[in-house]
Amino acid sequence: MASPMCQYLSEDGGPNDWHLMHLGRLAIGGCGIVFGEETAVEPNGRKTYSCAGMYNTKHISAYRRLTNVIKENGAVPAIQLGHSGRKGSCHGAIEGWRPLELQDAKNGKAPWQVMAPTAHNCPPRPIFPKEMDLDDIKNVIKAFSTAAKMSIDSGYDIVEIHGAHGYLIHQFLSSTSNQRRDSYGGSLENRMRLAIEVAVAVREVWPQDKPVFFRLSAVDGKGGSWSLFESIQLAAALKAVEIDMIDVSSGGVMGDSEMPMVPRIPAYQVEFSKRIRSAVGIKTVAVGGITKPKQAEDILQAGDADLIALARELLWNADWPSHSAKVLGLEDPFAYLPEGYAHRLRLRESQKEMMINQDKTEITKSLSYFLSNADASAD
Ligand SMILES: Cc1cc2nc3c(=O)[nH]c(=O)nc-3n(C[C@H](O)[C@H](O)[C@H](O)COP(=O)(O)O)c2cc1C
Repeated sequence: MASPMCQYLSEDGGPNDWHLMHLGRLAIGGCGIVFGEETAVEPNGRKTYSCAGMYNTKHISAYRRLTNVIKENGAVPAIQLGHSGRKGSCHGAIEGWRPLELQDAKNGKAPWQVMAPTAHNCPPRPIFPKEMDLDDIKNVIKAFSTAAKMSIDSGYDIVEIHGAHGYLIHQFLSSTSNQRRDSYGGSLENRMRLAIEVAVAVREVWPQDKPVFFRLSAVDGKGGSWSLFESIQLAAALKAVEIDMIDVSSGGVMGDSEMPMVPRIPAYQVEFSKRIRSAVGIKTVAVGGITKPKQAEDILQAGDADLIALARELLWNADWPSHSAKVLGLEDPFAYLPEGYAHRLRLRESQKEMMINQDKTEITKSLSYFLSNADASAD
């Protein structure tokens, strides 16, 4: 599965030719599921003015073009819906998510009032959110539901709710970013309320025969508080409202506790996936630092996850799934590529055999025929 990857190249939330090439290339390379980037459910839920959005029906035809291309190339199109909360109103990744300033208004990028469970800024950014009232919460849940309906009209077969990486839903989950005193703050049950209400709203409109994924941060980032124990409780509550798959990531909310950063070792989140999967009995996605075919296969065979997701390795090698099929010795690894490619590559493979078995004297004879002809014309 191609993991969601923000491109910061959308126009007014809508996709363009870049997205078609970027996601089409991943489908061609053999990914079974191709996820688009985090797609905001309302304009102010974007991180930047260039983030993707699913809030305007005028973009449905462009999204439909994307999902058609992904399907025509053998993959399942998937969309990740999210809301940035206090992590909005900034520039993109290349500029280090620098906050928008008043002078950016000159370029049509005026800063906007971000919102969050609690009016605390998101360290180290000096952006102060408005504390959400109950109407704001209701509107966000409605926006997820509307965006899910628009995603169906756009041809998506899988929807994922982004509840990780310190964005709005995660901001409600972690007691580091949520100090509310109402029914959305305090106890774990209260902090999980928004996540569950969004999950119910999306599940309600998403076709029963199509899966809903939920991406969570198994633990907070450095200095946070959200724990693996709490993630297991959340996954169980999500299972109870018919969420099909937990996509297990980590980090995004930081604070000043003693919680360390998750060490960036190979396959650094697989242990979290394994624990959630076995404790809750729910399907999981393993992601993070997975780059080798055997490593990926071993995770599946050990039962530590049900799906393998890759992000950065696919930026380096979009054909990774097909190449891995060859490395792992599958009978027809070219079958994961479009038939036009596969046909010629199978032919090349059979020619390799022919070349190895070719009579050496015949080769010398043929070559000398061409070379002696050349000598004769030079005379
Ligand atoms: C360019 C880029 C953009 C990303 N954008 C998103 C995103 O939109 N939503 C999300 O949940 N994760 C996002 N991520 C995180 C990836 O989905 C993935 O979880 C992470 O990179 C770890 O996987 P990897 O080691 O295979 O890269 C992004 C990662 C990269 C490299």
